[in-house]
Amino acid sequence: MDKLKIFGKANLKGFINIPGSKNAALPIMACSILSNENLRLKNMPNLLDIKTMQKLLKSFGLNFYSDQDSLTLNSKNLVNNVADYNLVNKMRASILVLGPLLSRFKKVKISLPGGCAIGTRPINLHLFGLKKLGAKFFFEDGYIVAKIKDRLIGNIINFPTVSVGATENIIMAAVLAKGKTKIVNAAREPEIQDLVKCLNKMGAKIKGAGKKIIEIEGVSKLNQAEHSIISDRIVAGTYTIAAIMLNKNFVVKNVNPEHLIKPIKILKKMGANLIIGKNHIEIKNSKLIKGINIETKPYPGFPTDLQAQMMALMSVISGKSKIKENIFENRFMHVSELNRLGANITVKNETAIIQGNNKLKGAQVMASDLRASVSLVIAGLYAKGCTTINRVYHLDRGYESIENTLGKCGPRIVRIN
Ligand code: UD1
Repeated sequence: MDKLKIFGKANLKGFINIPGSKNAALPIMACSILSNENLRLKNMPNLLDIKTMQKLLKSFGLNFYSDQDSLTLNSKNLVNNVADYNLVNKMRASILVLGPLLSRFKKVKISLPGGCAIGTRPINLHLFGLKKLGAKFFFEDGYIVAKIKDRLIGNIINFPTVSVGATENIIMAAVLAKGKTKIVNAAREPEIQDLVKCLNKMGAKIKGAGKKIIEIEGVSKLNQAEHSIISDRIVAGTYTIAAIMLNKNFVVKNVNPEHLIKPIKILKKMGANLIIGKNHIEIKNSKLIKGINIETKPYPGFPTDLQAQMMALMSVISGKSKIKENIFENRFMHVSELNRLGANITVKNETAIIQGNNKLKGAQVMASDLRASVSLVIAGLYAKGCTTINRVYHLDRGYESIENTLGKCGPRIVRIN
């Protein structure tokens, strides 16, 4: 497995262009299952998770055509195959094909996604919602088999907790269902809004995306459409935090700062010198960045996907900080690795206590999950000496060849195969 060698005390200059959002692109790719017509997608990120979704969709007979700036998906020749364990276990978001496949084939078999490093990550909310639309489930040899009689039937789905994936699965399942569906306590993330925007372009009738209640009026078929994926707010937030940590003048371009309202507010409160444009964030060097207490929450709260990166920053700034992780029960795998670099972090239940003012020093570390990996990259850029990150597989799932992207802006990062 590849390793990354990060040379510390790095420089960072110029600007970076943020690519399309992985978490918006994945459900949008899955929604093409619902239509027989072409879905042309622009601003697609070039990531391992996107390739895994492509492989999974290809295993159902979906055709892909790519040109320089777009990827076209066509589901006309779809066949009802089993969503195989070897593909589903690589990426939890594979569960997003469940709703659309069920809507199209009335019976589907998909491998259970299983747990991952950041927690058990159950799928009960996905199944709860689909049951309300009339699906029946049974489990066989590690696979879920889902069935419906004829068509899914619209209903009211009141989610007990907010789930991004379950909201997306139910939206996609309900688009071609008979009658109206109302999702109460829906997730409000920009990626959900992007999925709804794309589905509405395809002819769906969905209202309320970005609000707690989403209403879907079933239609009988979807048409061809073209859609440009929103830019990745988490990648943008990551590079903003990196520039603050390195205390450099830097510009993060092609971002919608509205999608980062909470992190921007918190970073400014900590003392970061940020100038917010319509489509960019300019980071200017700051005199003093101070510790703060934060907690992760569903959108529009502070995103769990920026928690590890914030922790790296909090390790080197002035004073003590606390982070309460409310979304995933085990999302502190990066703590021991950041401590290996010289951070001083302790964990008590779901709260991490970060003592600031630490001088980090390069070491060998292990990447456990996607965002944990990138927190080690930015800590390595700050540290004195060289940091080797083992198992960068996770990083490649969410950041386009980071050694080149960041390399163009000054840092020296070398990949070892
Ligand atoms: C998505 C994002 C991920 C992000 C997360 C939270 C994608 C591809 N991934 O993941 O990057 O960290 O949102 O913002 O978009 N839960 C249940 N039962 C379920 C489903 C979820 O209990 O059936 C729990 C989860 O364990 C977790 C919480 O609900 O504690 C939120 O998870 P969810 O919003 O579903 O995350 P994902 O959609 O998997």
